[in-house]
Amino acid sequence: MGGHGKFTVRRANVILGNIGLVVGVVASIAFIKWSTAGGGALGLAFGLLLTAIFLMWLGYMIPRARMLLVSVGFFTLMSGVFASYSNWLPQTRGEVPPVEAAGSGVKAEDMPVDKLAEKGEMIIFGELGTLHGQGKGQCPLCHGFKKGDVSERAPNLAGIPARAAEQIKDPRYLKPDSVQTEAHSGSGRATTAIEYIAESHSCPNCFIVAGFGVKGSNDRESPMPQIHKAPIQLTIDELIAVDTWLFVREGEEAPPAADLRAAYEKFIPAGDRAEPVKEAAAPAGGAPAGPMIATGADKPEDVIMKMGCVACHKIPTTAAKFGAVGPILIEKTNAPKRLASAEYKARIKAGKAHANSPKEYVIESIVNPSAFILPDYVQKATPEVSAMLPDFGKKFTYEALDKLAEFLLSIDEAAAVKDGMMPGKAAEAAPAPMSEDRKDAMAAGHAGFQVVSR
Ligand code: HEC
Ligand code: HEC
Repeated sequence: MGGHGKFTVRRANVILGNIGLVVGVVASIAFIKWSTAGGGALGLAFGLLLTAIFLMWLGYMIPRARMLLVSVGFFTLMSGVFASYSNWLPQTRGEVPPVEAAGSGVKAEDMPVDKLAEKGEMIIFGELGTLHGQGKGQCPLCHGFKKGDVSERAPNLAGIPARAAEQIKDPRYLKPDSVQTEAHSGSGRATTAIEYIAESHSCPNCFIVAGFGVKGSNDRESPMPQIHKAPIQLTIDELIAVDTWLFVREGEEAPPAADLRAAYEKFIPAGDRAEPVKEAAAPAGGAPAGPMIATGADKPEDVIMKMGCVACHKIPTTAAKFGAVGPILIEKTNAPKRLASAEYKARIKAGKAHANSPKEYVIESIVNPSAFILPDYVQKATPEVSAMLPDFGKKFTYEALDKLAEFLLSIDEAAAVKDGMMPGKAAEAAPAPMSEDRKDAMAAGHAGFQVVSR
């Protein structure tokens, strides 16, 4: 045989080999797509590996087609390897909360109960299965959810469906003495457990759980914000999801979504119902995805809204006009007074507090609130623990804290008087009277508020 014949055979093999290469690549991509799309990945992988071995063996047996068969066999082998690898991926994928569980487009009545409950859990906590964290609803700022957790800030919501049925028989409920006794004129009062829960969310002032009223209000006024109004502003569908979770997690049967809707429609007049937010504007049920962190790029006013300071504090010059759990923040006036107080000096001596300047005081108040607790806000059952959340230290970059502290230190008593949050006369930094300005603000329809979503 001359060199010529050998050359054609080799060339034919090279062409066949290249075809094999292309077929192999296309086939492996197709196989991987098929298996990651969920088509029985383990069986597929096994089949591919067997086929690869068979093809390679054939290639060994038939020298003329060796290159083709070995190439195809090789890529089939690779596909098999990829397929078995991708078989493990879906399991890790399953741990991530399904996005549609939090989606807000679907009507509550059209969602399966488990999905609706998941959506409610996301709205409360921003994550599933942990009973902590903080979602759009911001409830864990004030409420505990685990059995046995005590907080003087707000009642623990474990067991609330059963308790709700009892509350409506409470003499204090039946003969209300609170600043407001009907959600709106003609709404009437709650007559069932689900109505009680709906009323608690939409008209906190309609009944105040004993011991949890605004300080000095004699339990006639609630520090809880109206959940369907800014800044939290849940839609009725979101509220239905929250209530569904409250029942489901007790192992109780969830009330039909239509009944929950009827309860909310009893207490929330049509004009006050929040519009469902477009999907794009509200990722994952409006709750921010991942941990909430404030950075130096955020404006202090936005941080105050985003971090929920607004739920507990009034802050002059900002949209935080209603918070009634903590003191009004006028740190230009108050931080120097706190530092100079005998109580603060005692905490320094005890090694608990460490601030030497107003700015250090404000930063310490945010990242380590229990270092020093304002005497008026000491909780009886847990005197060493501030009612303010302990984990803000993990939610700020240093720069963000620095900017927020500077901002809070620029606000003085005069600003509070100007914003109508304090009476004109030099007042003590004790909790300002709430009822009047709160009512005014409610009458004004919360117009000043804007919800900051990420
Ligand atoms: C700023 C603090 C605060 C936030 C935020 C808050 N609550 Fe409340 N909540 C309270 C306080 C204080 C009470 C008790 C006073 C009262 O009865 O209004 C209360 C009462 C309740 C009650 C009645 C409890 C009972 O034992 O009768 C329910 C139900 C409730 N809240 C649900 C929620 C849900 C759900 C959210 C989130 C969507 C939420 N709350 C957000 C402070 C808060
Ligand atoms: C759950 C309610 C709650 C939330 C949310 C909250 N605080 Fe507070 N805060 C309190 C209470 C109650 C006090 C008073 C008790 C204490 O001194 O620890 C307080 C005290 C403070 C003080 C000291 C005020 C003074 O005049 O001495 C500062 C400053 C402060 N908070 C800032 C913030 C900032 C900033 C945020 C948001 C990042 C925030 N708080 C969120 C409840 C809250």
